Amino acid sequence: MGFETSNRAMTDQTTIERVLDAANIVDVVSQFVTLRKRGVNFVGLCPFHNEKTPSFYVSPSKGICKCFSCGKGGNAIHFIMEHEQLSFPQAVEWLAVKYGIPFSRREMTPEEKMHQDERESMFILNEFARDWFRKMLYDSDAGKAIGQAYFRKRGFRDDIIGKFQLGYSPDNADALAREALSKGYRRDYLISTGLCYERDDKSLRDRFRGRVIFPVHSVSGKIVAFGGRIMSSEAKVAKYVNSPESVIYRKSNELYGLYFARQEIVRQDRCFLVEGYADVISMHQAGVPNVVASSGTSLTSGQIRLIHRFTNNITVLYDGDKAGIKASIRGIDMLLEEGMNIKVLLLPDGEDPDSFSRGRSATEFQEYLESHQEDFIRFKVRLLMDEAAGDPIKRSTLIKDITASISVIPDQVVRAVYIRECSQLMQIDERMLISEVNTLQRGRSTGTAAKPAPANDTETEDETGEEKMNDPVEELRKTIRTLLRSDKAGVIDKEKLLARMIVRYGERVCCYTPYNGQDEYPMKVGEYIMGCMKNDGLSFCHPVYNRIASLYDEHFQDDGFVSERFFLSNPDSVVSLTAASLIEERYQLSSFYKDIRGLKDEDNLFGITSHIVADYQLAVVNYNIRQMENRLKNPDGDITVIMKEYQALLESRNSLAHKLGDRIVT
Ligand code: CTP
Ligand code: MN
Repeated sequence: MGFETSNRAMTDQTTIERVLDAANIVDVVSQFVTLRKRGVNFVGLCPFHNEKTPSFYVSPSKGICKCFSCGKGGNAIHFIMEHEQLSFPQAVEWLAVKYGIPFSRREMTPEEKMHQDERESMFILNEFARDWFRKMLYDSDAGKAIGQAYFRKRGFRDDIIGKFQLGYSPDNADALAREALSKGYRRDYLISTGLCYERDDKSLRDRFRGRVIFPVHSVSGKIVAFGGRIMSSEAKVAKYVNSPESVIYRKSNELYGLYFARQEIVRQDRCFLVEGYADVISMHQAGVPNVVASSGTSLTSGQIRLIHRFTNNITVLYDGDKAGIKASIRGIDMLLEEGMNIKVLLLPDGEDPDSFSRGRSATEFQEYLESHQEDFIRFKVRLLMDEAAGDPIKRSTLIKDITASISVIPDQVVRAVYIRECSQLMQIDERMLISEVNTLQRGRSTGTAAKPAPANDTETEDETGEEKMNDPVEELRKTIRTLLRSDKAGVIDKEKLLARMIVRYGERVCCYTPYNGQDEYPMKVGEYIMGCMKNDGLSFCHPVYNRIASLYDEHFQDDGFVSERFFLSNPDSVVSLTAASLIEERYQLSSFYKDIRGLKDEDNLFGITSHIVADYQLAVVNYNIRQMENRLKNPDGDITVIMKEYQALLESRNSLAHKLGDRIVT
């Protein structure tokens, strides 16, 4: 029961091994997740799902990582695949480039370009467009006279313009479209990225014509979108035009500036949150690089999760306009809910971070930030108290509002501190606040005040749902899910233990036995397992374990074969991912066997292997017994023959159980 791998892109195993040798898993993961050392491992917040307490483990000695909450992980390649949404060969290449492993990549022909998957093509096109916009800014007459002049007028320094890769799109109907098409880029990607749109007469129009360009980078530096600002102040034209949503751009999952800010956010353990492109850029220029922008919309949970990967501490900057503040205050409860520590900073009336930072030296600006940040709840109480002064109805709304904010805070101690402080600030009996907060919390847990289900997360993952249906990997997953729900689940459970032994200890000798004309043949763990199975005419039901078994059979006699290394670097990503998860389970299993048998993997390879084989055989016999019992209920042949087979099965069950040291009650 093999499965096809031949039609999938393959990368040679030597390159994969080199990449895995060079790519330290802690190093790779750290680029995206803040890790803390815990014992021999590292832990951090899982980048693949929304969580408040860290369950993402990285094992430097094994070179693998895993989230014990959502289950995602694997070796460095799998991590990059998942994180960057790349195919296996693309992830290998990503790491090869990063770690300077020689890797041959041909210049692609237009033909091959067409066959690249859509996302990748869109990224490539966006990169091309970014470069072109920059070229226009630096080299064209209009770029110099209009674009550069505009940035100068705004006080953007040259190095900052370069760093943020700002550009200029000439005021010409389709200059970009023509340039891109002439270079072999496809028309449909020009449309799907939103760089151009199609007019009624089917001609292409550049979306950003006559604007200065702000490329929007994903957290890993890919260009997912552009923002274009008009330079005149005509009221009838939108100030900013942005790329439309696409398979590479979910506005609610991106934060402008994060790519340039992430290291500094980690270093300073704080993230400043502002509204716009110009704010981010000006703050960088003023020496505050740990800043991101929500781009004018209210924060989404996806954006919060992005920030939370890097820090727990966030400071929201407000321009001093009251209406704006009250509108965005609502979004902040969401940050509290995520267990983030939130401060706010109110700028003087009429100033935004961009204007405010410009008139000041970096030190002045940084000191202002430092000394004017205020705890969010305290800020909210103050703000609303002013308003509610002398108005009992407004005052009761205020109390409800504040208790609502406090009740979403996950940490009980933090809640208690806030309750005490607010009771003093608002001069309200503390017990009353406590009971109000408790009521709200109960409401939440019974679902009356339920927050929306995390449907968004699954949506994002399934965004390519239609394609996935024909994806062999997805097909395989479906097969496995079905198997695990079938009455074979018990057998597959044991198959997993065997597969794990093969992956983990496949090359190790477990016993010396007469075999192959030798008196003392050094029998390897994997060989022993495969031999036992062949004797009984059995093979793995689980398609991936089966694939592992046949790969083992094929390769265990290769020079220098080391099972773990071999499987972890297998070009078939399903195999390597499965191997990683099998290895991950070692500790759990070891202690289980140690408890009941006094066995330890390494010390007693034969003991544990033969035990697992017997365990597996027992599961198979039990499965056959159940089948036989069904046949006995509806005999399809000579009942005495069936009975005999049934008896034989019961006997083998007993002897296996005996061997395993269990007592069977029949
Ligand atoms: N924005 C947008 N479309 C608009 C207006 C605003 O996408 N029509 C987004 C942009 O990301 C912008 C942010 O909202 O940067 C904040 O808007 P605003 O305060 O109006 O712009 P500034 O960033 O201050 O831009 P500028 O200083 O260039 O006027
Ligand atoms: Mn502005």
